[in-house]
Amino acid sequence: MKPLIVANWKMNPTTLEGAKLLFEAVKKEVKNIKKVEIVICPPFTFLSNIQYPISNIKLGAQDCFWEEKGAFTGEISPLMLKNLGCEYIIIGHSERRKLGETDEMINKKIKAVITAKLKPILCIGETEKERKLGKTFQMLKDQLKDDLKNLTSKTYNLKPLVIVYEPVWAIGTGNPCSSKEAKKVFLFLQKFFGKVPVLYGGSVNSENAASYIHEANFQGLLVGGASLNPKEFIKIIKSVAQS
Ligand code: PGA
Repeated sequence: MKPLIVANWKMNPTTLEGAKLLFEAVKKEVKNIKKVEIVICPPFTFLSNIQYPISNIKLGAQDCFWEEKGAFTGEISPLMLKNLGCEYIIIGHSERRKLGETDEMINKKIKAVITAKLKPILCIGETEKERKLGKTFQMLKDQLKDDLKNLTSKTYNLKPLVIVYEPVWAIGTGNPCSSKEAKKVFLFLQKFFGKVPVLYGGSVNSENAASYIHEANFQGLLVGGASLNPKEFIKIIKSVAQS
């Protein structure tokens, strides 16, 4: 599998013009790079404006609801996102968990995404406190057990599932988890999910990006802050594609 590099723009930028500028700047430089698959996840409001027929850049969303349609004020369904050209949907990001998203909700969302024939990118990770207490592996195990409850290969097609290890303490802090430490988690997760691609996320930049892929063997990256800086994001993509 080609390394998957996912840009999570979070709640940025604030204008369509800004979103188009950011997307075009990245597209111009990476459209001929075939060694990686790039997924851009802008806010919902820009999804329909930055669609593009490019084979190595896919569109993703940052969340979705678990029902297909109906009386659910303010929600967006996987089917709606699919109809806009999305292929991937990030589910269970720690910034959403912090605001009250539960494992039960995440579980329903993953099922809905797979049912819609889209690819869920499930985020898991321990907090600083859990890490200090030596509970990282237990925490990841518990999250996976609940988030993937009743999702067996008999009932769901698990092929599209992607897991991201995102230590909460490394997100947006400029304090990444070293590739050496992250590798231990990667090997732990591989024991459970041999075939599921596992990505790393948390303060990824152009200096450390390649180390997660080539030293720790992750199958890709989830990039937040650095994906809003086209020069830095392009460098990340090139560093992974070249090494
Ligand atoms: P960061 O965010 O790269 O800014 O640390 C990663 C994420 O939240 O997905």
